[in-house]
Amino acid sequence: MTTDMRRKLVAGNWKMHGLSSDLAEIAVIAAASKRLPAVDVALCVPAVLVERAARAVPGFAIGGQDVHHAEQGAHTGNVSARMLLDAGAVLTIVGHSERRDAHRESDEEVRAKAETALACGLAVILCVGEPLEIREAGAAVQTVLAQLDGSLPRSLAGRPPLAVAYEPIWAIGTGKIPTGEEIAAMHAAIRKHIDDHYSDAGAAVRILYGGSVKGSNAPEIFAIADVDGALVGGASLKATDFLPIVEAAAAR
Ligand code: 13P
Repeated sequence: MTTDMRRKLVAGNWKMHGLSSDLAEIAVIAAASKRLPAVDVALCVPAVLVERAARAVPGFAIGGQDVHHAEQGAHTGNVSARMLLDAGAVLTIVGHSERRDAHRESDEEVRAKAETALACGLAVILCVGEPLEIREAGAAVQTVLAQLDGSLPRSLAGRPPLAVAYEPIWAIGTGKIPTGEEIAAMHAAIRKHIDDHYSDAGAAVRILYGGSVKGSNAPEIFAIADVDGALVGGASLKATDFLPIVEAAAAR
């Protein structure tokens, strides 16, 4: 499969934002996305909003932001993959740096989450990315490849789609983004790692860029080789900010 055969995916990560009063915003995003069939669009909303969001926009991809690695059990406060599916989600994020940091999630745990989610029928966006000191030390690529080594699911056979999101931690919510060369080098390294890891099945794995993506920088980011879409935080909360990013992906 060539890069051209991987449709772009633009996914919004609402993080801890979103109330029922925001369902109208989701409806606007879903309706506009329907008119852009060349790009896949999804919104990963807080777990308690998944069911209402999925009911409000049938056929539009609603996702969660995390799942527990166990299918069920004594895990107070956690959400399982089957619960997300039952609520109407079709995908979930795992391994976001905010969870790796605040909840001390290891690569091993992220892998277990991804494998459970895929086995239950959820598509997965698996996040990786380096902190600033690692970027400055010149060790970003080796660090991200080590994260992938530890957290990629072992097999994709018969599973829903997997995407990897490269999100440099220092670019999240800061307005800073890596240079085009830095994104290209990282995505090429991730592409090779995925192709080596999964052989032919790896070609279907999309590699998203995340971190301060906006309508203004999206066209240049999507023009970079091996960038198959974006994972968008702040700019996914409002249709007026998010849709220009979706349109930029559709224009590629
Ligand atoms: P921002 O787009 O707000 O920088 O967030 C990126 C992110 O963390 C998406 O998961």
